[in-house]
Amino acid sequence: MKLLVTGGTGYIGSHTVVELLQEGHQVTIIDNLSNSKVMVLDRIEQITNIRPEFHKCDILDTDKLNDICSQNSYDAVIHFAGLKAVGESTEIPLEYYHNNVAGTVNLCRVLQKHNIKNFIFSSSATVYGFNQDVPFKEDYPRSATNPYGQSKLMIEHILEDLQKSDPDWNIVLLRYFNPVGAHASGLIGEDPNGIPNNLMPFISQVAVGKRDQLNVFGNNYPTPDGTGVRDYIHVVDLAIGHLKALDQIEKNCGLKVYNLGCGKGYSVLEVIKAFEKTTGITIPYKIVDRRPGDIATSFADASLAQKELSWQAEKDIDAMCKDAWKWQKENPGGYV
Ligand code: NAD
Ligand code: UFG
Repeated sequence: MKLLVTGGTGYIGSHTVVELLQEGHQVTIIDNLSNSKVMVLDRIEQITNIRPEFHKCDILDTDKLNDICSQNSYDAVIHFAGLKAVGESTEIPLEYYHNNVAGTVNLCRVLQKHNIKNFIFSSSATVYGFNQDVPFKEDYPRSATNPYGQSKLMIEHILEDLQKSDPDWNIVLLRYFNPVGAHASGLIGEDPNGIPNNLMPFISQVAVGKRDQLNVFGNNYPTPDGTGVRDYIHVVDLAIGHLKALDQIEKNCGLKVYNLGCGKGYSVLEVIKAFEKTTGITIPYKIVDRRPGDIATSFADASLAQKELSWQAEKDIDAMCKDAWKWQKENPGGYV
C-alpha cells in the first residue's frame, strides 16, 4: 500500500516505518521534527536499504498537507504525530489541545478533501482514566486525568463522529499500553529530550551512567510489592500491530478499537530486576513519593486484537530490557 505516516521519525513511528518497508509498503513520512531527528531516516535506510520519502511538515500546515496529498494518492494514513508528555500537558494544555486535537482535525479535513479515508490513530491506555477494573477492555467507560489524556479522548470521539457521518471512512483506534525497548539492530530507539519521564528510558540512562539513581514513585500501591504495575510492550510488537490494523482497513472495517498490550503487568521493582538480570548491571534506586496522577495498575485485555487482528505480542520483558539496553549503550547520546 501507499502510506502516509505522520510522526514517522518519532519513537513508535520509526519502528513502524521499518516494519512497513520490510513488508513492501511504500511510505511517505511527515514530521515537524519537534521531538525527533532527521538522522532517523539514515538509520531506517541502514536497516531496510530503503529511504522513505520525507517532508518536514506540521499537521497544522493545511497548505503543505494539501500539496503532499496532491502529489500522491495514499491508500491509508497512520497518524502518530502528537505531543505526549503527561506532566508537560498540565503546564501547557493549550499547546496540547492545539497540536494534538486541532492538528488531527486539520489533517482529517485535508484527507477528506483528497478522498483519503483509511486512518489508523495512536490512542493510549490513558483513556481508561482511573478505572480500577483490570484488565482494561475496549468497551470500558473512558475518562481522562490530564490534558494529554483528554486530547486522546477528544480525538477518539472526533474520529467516531467522523466515521458515523461518513461510513466510507475506515478508522482503527489503537490503544497502546507501555511501549518500551528498541529495534534489535540497536540503530533506532527512544531518544527522550532532557530527563526521561518514563521508566525504561530512565533505567537505561542510570545503567549507562547518565543518571545516578532511579526514583521509584511510591511503594504503597495496592499491588503485590507496592509499586505501580504496567503492561510493557516491545515497540516492535507494537509496530507489527499497525500492519495487522492495515489488513482490517483493507476489509472496510468501519470503526474499530483495539488494545495493544501484552495482557500482563509488571511492577516497577520487577522491571528493575529484569533489567539487572538481562544486562548484569545494578540499578540503584530510591523509593520516593507517588507521582501525582499515576494509577496503581494498568494492563490490557488484549484478546480482541488476538481474535480480530490475529496479533499478539511475542517479545517478553527480557527482550524489552535487552533491546532497550543495546540501543542506549550504542547510542549513549541518542541520535547525535
Ligand atoms: P514521539 O514524540 O517519539 O513521536 C511523535 C512524533 O510526532 C515526533 O517525531 C514529533 O516530532 C512529531 N510531531 C509532534 N507534533 C507534530 C505536528 N504538529 N506535526 C508534525 N509532526 C509532529 O512519540 P511516540 O512515543 O513515538 O508516540 C507516537 C504516538 O503514540 C503519539 O501520538 C503518542 O501520544 C502515542 N502514544 C505513545 C505512548 C508512549 O508511551 N510512547 C503511549 C500511548 C500512545
Ligand atoms: N516510574 C517510576 N520512576 C520513574 C518513571 C516511572 O517509578 O522515573 C513508575 C511510574 O510511577 C509507573 C511506572 O513506572 O508506575 C510506569 O511509568 P511510565 O512513566 O513509564 O508510564 P505511565 O504508565 O505513567 O505512562 C505511559 C505513557 C503515557 C500513556 C500511558 C498509557 O507515558 O503517555 O503509558 O499508555 F498514556
